[in-house]
Parts: sequence; structure tokens; C-alpha cells
Amino acid sequence: MSDSKQGSLSIRACRAEGVPAVLEFWRAADATPSVTDTADDLCRAITSNSARVLVAEIAPSLVGTIIGTFDGWRGNIYRMAVHPEYRRRGIGRALVAEIDHWLVGQGAKRVTALVEKDHAWATSFWTAVGYGVDQRIARHVRTL
Ligand SMILES: CC(C)(COP(=O)(O)OP(=O)(O)OC[C@H]1O[C@@H](n2cnc3c(N)ncnc32)[C@H](O)[C@@H]1OP(=O)(O)O)[C@@H](O)C(=O)NCCC(=O)NCCS
Repeated sequence: MSDSKQGSLSIRACRAEGVPAVLEFWRAADATPSVTDTADDLCRAITSNSARVLVAEIAPSLVGTIIGTFDGWRGNIYRMAVHPEYRRRGIGRALVAEIDHWLVGQGAKRVTALVEKDHAWATSFWTAVGYGVDQRIARHVRTL
């Protein structure tokens, strides 16, 4: 994909030096705050063999993120976010495609994306990229 003003989209693994920028990006991109939005947690994810943290750039800007994980049984996707000024250009779709590809390579057969029910833009997005709603499931959570 290309951007007429600022070059083309590239997607790559997040590096340690990019961690502060990603944490700041999540605040600017309306990602729902999470207990794991810390430098330590993100550094652990980027060095883990069971997680893949991707950033999307349209040089020189960070425009999107996604985290995929495979626990040996199922895949999960977290931190799907695109900068407000870069939405509806296919960046989110491209990030999901990259993570789906990685998850297939890991052996994943089923993938979950946690989506806030009241965020219509998010539910529409996940439906559009092929992630249907599982009406049977409720999420039970405890913060440790
Ligand atoms: C949800 C989000 C990641 C989508 O990123 P994006 O790069 O704009 O998505 P894409 O351009 O790849 O959109 C793919 C398709 O998803 C659907 N979609 C995306 N945004 C949508 C919106 N606001 N309303 C309705 N449908 C939407 C459309 O079908 C779109 O295809 P189209 O543009 O050809 O119609 C982005 O809006 C975002 O970061 N929101 C804030 C954080 C968030 O809610 N993340 C999801 C957490 S579960």
C-alpha cells in the first residue's frame, strides 16, 4: 500500500528502542488502557518466542500496532490499533493478515480477538477481516 504524501506502508517487528513510542502511540490511538501497558511487559512480549509484536510505519510515523500470541493451543490477538489520521486505508487489515500468517506458521488453528461489544467500529472491523462473533462465549477475567 502506498501513501501519496508520506511514502509506503511497512510492517515490521517492534524493537526494544521502539517500546516508549508504542506505549505513547496506544494512548494517541484510543487503545483501551490495559494493565500490561508498561515497558517491562512490552519488552517481555517482543523477546518472547510465543508472541509477535508488529508495528506499521509510514515513514517517519508509527501508524499501527498488533500483537499476536500462540500459547501452543490457540492464537490470540491484542493491541490492534491504527492512528486516527491513518484509518480506513487498509492498515488494520494488513496487520491482521501478517499476524494470521505468523499464527498459521506457529500451528494455530483458531484465533481469538477480544473486542469491546460497545465499540461499533471495532466489531465492524473484526467482522470485515473475517473474525466472526462467537455468541456462546463470555469472558471471565481476574486481575492478579
Ligand atoms: C479498529 C481499527 C483498528 C481499524 O483500523 P483501520 O486501519 O482503520 O481498518 P481498515 O482500514 O483495515 O478497515 C478494514 C475494514 O474494517 C471495517 N471498518 C474499519 N473501521 C471501521 C469503522 N470505523 N466503522 C465501520 N467499519 C469499519 C471496514 O469494513 C473496512 O473496510 P473498508 O474501509 O473497505 O470499508 C481502528 O479504527 C482503531 O485503531 N480503532 C481504535 C482502537 C480499537 O478500537 N482497536 C480495536 C480493539 S479490539
